Order: sequence, then C-alpha cells, then structure tokens
Amino acid sequence: MKITVIGAGNVGASAALRIAEKQLANQVVLIDIVEGIPQGKALDMYEAGPVDLFDTRVFGSNDYKDSANSDIILITAGLARKPGMSREDLLMKNTVIVRDVTTQVMKYSSNPIIIMVSNPLDVMTYFAQATSALPKERVIGMAGVLDAARFKCFIAEALDISIQDINALVLGGHGDSMVPIVEYTNIGGIPLNQLMPREKIDALVERTRNGGIEIVNHLKTGSAYYAPAASAVDMIESIVRDRKRIIPCTAYLDGQYGISDIYCGVPVKLGKNGIEQIFEIDLAPAELEALRHSATLVKQSCSDLEKLLA
Ligand code: NAI
Ligand code: 2OP
Repeated sequence: MKITVIGAGNVGASAALRIAEKQLANQVVLIDIVEGIPQGKALDMYEAGPVDLFDTRVFGSNDYKDSANSDIILITAGLARKPGMSREDLLMKNTVIVRDVTTQVMKYSSNPIIIMVSNPLDVMTYFAQATSALPKERVIGMAGVLDAARFKCFIAEALDISIQDINALVLGGHGDSMVPIVEYTNIGGIPLNQLMPREKIDALVERTRNGGIEIVNHLKTGSAYYAPAASAVDMIESIVRDRKRIIPCTAYLDGQYGISDIYCGVPVKLGKNGIEQIFEIDLAPAELEALRHSATLVKQSCSDLEKLLA
C-alpha cells in the first residue's frame, strides 16, 4: 500500500503522520510545491517511527514521479482565503491548483483512489474527478466525517456524556448549507430529540454549521487541521482495511435524492473499491429540501467556475 499526500501544510502533514502511526501504508509520500518543506517534515515523521514503533517509510518530495503507483492520493493542496481575495478568486485559484495536482498525479498512478480535502470541497472534488477521468466512485470528498464529528462533540459536551455511543449524520455541501440530520442522530439508540429540547438541538446544529469558522476565528491565521486530518484518515482506514463502514462522504450523485451531476455529502459504504454503495435514506420533507438546496448551491459554484474558466 502506497499513499501519497499532496500538500505538506497543516492538514497534509497531520494526516501523513496519522497514516504512518496507524501503519496504513508501507510508504507515505508527502508532496508540496515549496522546496524543503515536504522533505523536512517527512524525515521528521520517519524519525518518530522508532519511538512510536511504526515501519512506514515516510518520504518528502517536490517531484510527482515519487508518487508513482500510489493506491490512494489525499489532496490537501490549496490556498486559504486572504483579506482582499474574493470568493471567486479563491475558487479560481484552488481550482487551478487542484486541476494541476490531479493532472500530475494521474501521470504516474493509473487507477488510484483520490480523497479530496481542499476547499471549496464539493466543487474541488467535482473538478478532480473531471480532470482525472477516474470512475466516480474512486474520487471522494472529505467533509461529512468532520462535520458529524463536530456535531457529536457539541452533543457530548451539552449532555455531559461520552462521544462513543453518539451516531450522527451530516449531509449536503461542506459549508453554511450543510444539513445535520437530527432524526437520525441517536445516543446508544436513544433519539437525540428525546434527550434535548428542540431549541437546544437547533443551537447545536447552528454551531455545527459554523464549526469551521469557529476554529478560524480562534486561530486567525488558518483553519482547522487536527480533526480534518483525523477525518480523512478515518476514510483512508476504511478503504485500506476494506472495512465497508457506512459514513457520510462527498459522492457523485446521479439522481439519488433527486440530485444529479454533482458531488454532495451523503451516507456511503466505503471499502477497498472506494464508494461501494450510496444510501438513499428517507428524509423528512424539510431535510430533503435543505439537502437539495445545498446541492443547488454547489451546482451554482461549479457552473460559475466553468464560466470563469471558459
Ligand atoms: P496549509 O496552507 O497549511 O497547506 C496547504 C499546502 O498546500 C501548503 O503547504 C502549500 O505550499 C501547498 N500547495 C499550494 N499549492 C500547491 C500546489 N500547486 N502543489 C502542491 N502543493 C501546493 O492549508 P491546510 O490548513 O493544510 O488546508 C489545506 C486545504 O484544505 C485548504 O483548501 C482548506 O480550506 C482545506 N480544508 C478542508 C477541510 C474539509 O473539511 N474538507 C477541512 C480543513 C481544511
Ligand atoms: C473546516 O470546516 C476549513 O473546511 C474547513 O474547518
């Protein structure tokens, strides 16, 4: 098993170390555009092996040849929005980066599974699939695992309970329009709405929607990376170990939920072939409408971008 992580920044480096610590691959290659950073970080991680007792060879490079024959490629390369940069600028710049990165990796690996992290997530996943021409089930976005993890943390904190028995589902696009599905959220089988009044649930849902910006407001110079890296590696583990877990991921929809030709967060079965099944679950009318609205916003971004790129 060889896993390449593109982008040796906060998310990429944190994910590479977790992959090595969990021994999910024999080889982890960390690639970045900045010279020295992937080499230095990878060597530093490799030198943690004798302490944490992992044999994974972690290697850093600026050359995509070193990603050759990867089984999984995790893309975290991209820019964060800076003052003065419009949303369209960011969208445009990250699309250029993601398309370039995807083109490069596809020169050296014939049939990898790509996991996208770069934002705007749903749009970047769409363009990575279009650029790679990989089967749609082999290009997957990471958002739902992170958004659900945040929802679970806020529930655990509010009820003063362990996170262990909380099941939560967050669907839709990775942004303000994401849809935490309250009806399917339970703790040890007990529906959340039997443990908490509606107003309190609504406040936790709102905090989940703003989970990313809450961290940005603390950090000021960047966005979250520990939980995002953990979430991406959770997906990688399900693929590498063929665990066939059912988790929310950003998947290509072809009519499910009445949504077509777009990547959007839905429950999937994740195994060695990537997305092995998409689950179309019954949703309350308001939640279904919210999911479709979220998908419409993603679709709008994709078509805005196609116009900008034309
Ligand atoms: P970061 O700024 O720490 O790292 C980004 C890295 O990408 C930098 O090392 C940079 O040199 C590299 N890079 C830029 N252009 C490149 C290129 N053409 N080729 C190779 N490497 C390139 O950012 P961080 O915090 O690691 O976030 C990375 C991305 O992930 C951002 O777009 C961020 O918004 C997104 N993100 C998405 C999450 C999600 O839930 N899907 C959660 C957290 C972050
Ligand atoms: C997050 O949700 C920035 O998308 C990133 O933290």
